[in-house]
Amino acid sequence: MPGFEVLGKEERDAVLEVMDRGVLFRYEFGDQRQGAWRVREFEEAFAAYTGVAHALAVSSGTAAVKVALAALGVGAGDEVITQGFTFVATWEAILDLGAKPVFCEIDQSLCMDPADLEAKISPRTAAIVPVHMLGAQARIKEIAAVAEAHGIPVMEDTAQATGGTLEGKHLGGFGAMGSFSFDSVKTLTTGEGGMVITNDAELYQNMSEYHDHGHDHQPVGRGNEGRRFIGFNYRMMELQGALGLAQLAKLPGMLQTQRSNQAKLQEALARVPGISFRQVPDPAGDTATFLSWFMPSAEEAARLAELLAQHGAGPIAWGNNTWHAYPHWEHLHAGATVSKNGWPFTRLDGDLSYDPRDLPQTADILGRCLSWQIMLGWDEAKLQQMVEAINRAVAAW
Ligand SMILES: Cc1ncc(COP(=O)(O)O)c(C=O)c1O
Repeated sequence: MPGFEVLGKEERDAVLEVMDRGVLFRYEFGDQRQGAWRVREFEEAFAAYTGVAHALAVSSGTAAVKVALAALGVGAGDEVITQGFTFVATWEAILDLGAKPVFCEIDQSLCMDPADLEAKISPRTAAIVPVHMLGAQARIKEIAAVAEAHGIPVMEDTAQATGGTLEGKHLGGFGAMGSFSFDSVKTLTTGEGGMVITNDAELYQNMSEYHDHGHDHQPVGRGNEGRRFIGFNYRMMELQGALGLAQLAKLPGMLQTQRSNQAKLQEALARVPGISFRQVPDPAGDTATFLSWFMPSAEEAARLAELLAQHGAGPIAWGNNTWHAYPHWEHLHAGATVSKNGWPFTRLDGDLSYDPRDLPQTADILGRCLSWQIMLGWDEAKLQQMVEAINRAVAAW
C-alpha cells in the first residue's frame, strides 16, 4: 500500500504552496487563504472519485471509524459487529465510543463471513463494520443484504482498499458510510489522515459537527454557531489536504502498477502444489496492494514461507501476526487498559471478556494464509528474482 514510494515534486510543491500562504487551518482565515481550501478541495475530489455525495476528511483512519460510528449514534450499551481479521484500530474505535466489539469469523475472502454475521446479530447490534482487508473486497453485497434484513446500518472500514471497486462501484459506498486511512503505509498517503464518505446528508452533518467540537460549519463558517451536541477534535489540516490532492491524482497509475506486478507473481505462484488463492468477489476491482493465498495446512504454509524466504522472497504469514489476527490480540483478551478502573472493559451492564479460541474458522484460515505486499518500485529484475524464488520453492517441494 505504498503511496510513500511516489512522494515527489507534486507533493512537495503542493505542501510548499500551503506554507507560502501561511494558512494551516482548514477553516477560517478567509482573507489570507486567497481562495485556497485544500482540505475541502480534497474532500470534494475524493467524493467525486468514489461517486458519493459527501466526504469528510479527518485526522486518521482510526478517527474515521470513530467519527462515522459516532455520527450513526453508536454509544455505550451498543454492540458493533466487526471481523476477527482487521487492524486493531477498528475495534479500538468501537471501544472508545463505549460500545462492545463483537467479532465475526472471516471466510476465504479474508473478510467478514456473511453466514457468521447473521449468527452474531443481537437486539443490541447498532452497526456492522466489515473491513475490506488487504486491498480487496469483502462480500459486501451479501453483508449489506443481511444488515438490511435486520435494519442495521453498515459502515465499511475501507482503510486498506482506497480505490477498490465492486462491479465498478467504489468500496465504502455500499453501506451507510465508508471510512478510509491515508497513514504513512497506505496506497494514498497524507502522512496521517482519513476520510469518511456517505450519501446521507444528515450523517454527513453529524460527522462535520462531531469531528470539530460541535461546530456546525453552516454555511461554511465556524465560530459563533449554535451547538447540537458535544464533539471532539479529529480535524485534518491544510498540509494534508494538499498532499491528498497530489496523491489522489497519482492513484490510478499506482493501482495499474500494483495490478500488473500482482498478476505476474500470481501466474508464477499458481504452480505451487496445493495452492489456492484468496477469493476476491471482483478481481477487476482489487487494488492489488497484496497477493494472498492459502496452503492446505498450516504446516505446508510454514514450509512454503521458509522456502521462499531462503530465496529472498519471504511472505507475510498471517497465522503469526499479532496486530491483525484475533487469536493474537492478547491485550484484548486480557482486558489490558491504561485506565485504573478497567474502562473500557469494565461496564455497569457487564464486563467485556474475549477468548482467543472464540474464532476457530478465522484461526484456521489465517494459519494457512500467506501474502506478499505488492510494491510500486519493483522493477523487472526484482519481479524476476521473486519468480525465480517461486520456481526454486516448487522444485524443492
Ligand atoms: C483496517 C484498518 N482500519 C483502520 C486503520 C487505522 O488507520 P490509521 O492508521 O490511519 O489510524 C487501519 C490502519 O492500518 C486499518 O488497516
